[in-house]
Amino acid sequence: MTNLDPALDSLLVQARAAAQNSYSPYSGFKVGAALRLTSGEIVTGTNVENVSYGLTMCAERSALVRAVSECGPGIRIAAVAVMNLNSAASPPCGACRQMLAEFILPDAPVVFPAAEGVRVMSFSELLPLAFDMKLK
Ligand code: THU
Repeated sequence: MTNLDPALDSLLVQARAAAQNSYSPYSGFKVGAALRLTSGEIVTGTNVENVSYGLTMCAERSALVRAVSECGPGIRIAAVAVMNLNSAASPPCGACRQMLAEFILPDAPVVFPAAEGVRVMSFSELLPLAFDMKLK
């Protein structure tokens, strides 16, 4: 991946590796996500589907739940990478963006496959108005 920050490139490689573990017998769409925490730790996740379809867990939320479980509720996410093994676009879905909003730095880069290749956007660009009960 040309012109990509080496740290983000490495995060994408880890997201791709996580996608190898995807449980996706219904869609065949294998997704991996890697989160870099402000502590420097990298936590990955993959999508886990269910025969009910609706209970399917996305790769990004798998990684997020794992990060909190392993590192505690004080985590802050400094960068996110998403990759799939299907040569398709896969920006994080709306549910995953809302879940990430709870723990991510607004300026954190989010890197994912898009039509033109790998795209990098800041989280606040990706989700400008997350649900929140605070009046700001
Ligand atoms: N999926 C993710 O893992 N992340 C997303 O942000 C959107 C979609 C998964 C869910 C399902 O297993 C498959 O991709 C097809 O939608």
